[in-house]
Amino acid sequence: MPHPLMVRPELLTLDLGGRLYIVTGANSGIGLVTTEQLARQGATVVMACRRKEAGEDAAREIRGKIPAAKIEVMTLDLGNLSSIHAFAKAFKAGHAQLHGLINNAGIMNAPLGRTADGFETQFGTNHLGHFLLTALLLDTLKVSAPSRIVNVASLYHVHARGRVGAIHFEDPNYEERRYDGWEAYAQSKLANVLHARELARRHAGTGITAVSLNPGWVRTNLIRNTAPVWLQNLLQPFLRYAGGMIEPWEGAQTTLHCLLAPEVAKHSGEYYSQIGLYHDRSARAGGWPLVSPNPLAHDDKVAQRLWDVSEKLVGLAD
Ligand SMILES: NC(=O)c1ccc[n+]([C@@H]2O[C@H](COP(=O)([O-])OP(=O)(O)OC[C@H]3O[C@@H](n4cnc5c(N)ncnc54)[C@H](OP(=O)(O)O)[C@@H]3O)[C@@H](O)[C@H]2O)c1
Repeated sequence: MPHPLMVRPELLTLDLGGRLYIVTGANSGIGLVTTEQLARQGATVVMACRRKEAGEDAAREIRGKIPAAKIEVMTLDLGNLSSIHAFAKAFKAGHAQLHGLINNAGIMNAPLGRTADGFETQFGTNHLGHFLLTALLLDTLKVSAPSRIVNVASLYHVHARGRVGAIHFEDPNYEERRYDGWEAYAQSKLANVLHARELARRHAGTGITAVSLNPGWVRTNLIRNTAPVWLQNLLQPFLRYAGGMIEPWEGAQTTLHCLLAPEVAKHSGEYYSQIGLYHDRSARAGGWPLVSPNPLAHDDKVAQRLWDVSEKLVGLAD
């Protein structure tokens, strides 16, 4: 049976009135539960969703439970640089403040595909999309400091089904190599970890805290490219007991801790983890924060190189 780390109860009753958060992928899974909790505590939450209708359905569900919820659905397709620019422009037109950016949206083990701008789908969506989004919102995060950027990465930045997490600088978008969906996921999730680390280094002293995290193995729609969601849901008791799969509310705990716990500000750039199936025995319990078992995750040269490559790819370099 899993024993997930849970947020300190007093953090879940903090009054977040006047605070504004963006949650990407807010219509489903971990993002939906995170949004609901922030709204429950009085925050204003912008639900940044690829499919506006799915976002509106989720918002209705939240309003059904929390009639006073201050939530707003906006369209954001992280697989399309123009959509990201349009989102940032529209957000800034309506809001002068941003206290937390939760880079949560993601896809896993997708078949080989390309984003609108030609990037491999997982690297493009999970990393490059969030990289550009964060860059476009940094000025607003800065004027709202203290503020936080929380990258929802994964344990799979270490290994994903036997594929070692690494950034394949020679061909990050699989233009010349044979494609492997798990290897591409591991690359994109290591990129999430390194992105937070480099953000912290570049913005030290600005009041912006940037961290990455592993939410644990969570029962969500993420599995859809690997196995049917209905089968996962049917097997839930077994997968929970024997495999450690946790429920979305438990899976949102690390995100909420990273957003709300005051001490996280002293750990900018670090990696937080829920329980997980680590190869390294000492890391199996997870931890807040935890030293990633992947040595590349704390290699500043790799983080800086990824930053430079990402800037060029998304069109931010001169
Ligand atoms: N579940 C786990 O066991 C687990 C473990 C480790 C890490 N994670 C990470 O947790 C995060 C949340 O995933 P989840 O488990 O909650 O999965 P989920 O239920 O599938 O939610 C993923 C969200 O991302 C959105 N999304 C996908 N492509 C997008 C795009 N191009 N633009 C904008 N949004 C997009 C999805 O929108 P649609 O509904 O429109 O597709 C959905 O809202 C992901 O980053 C994932 O890598 C999850």
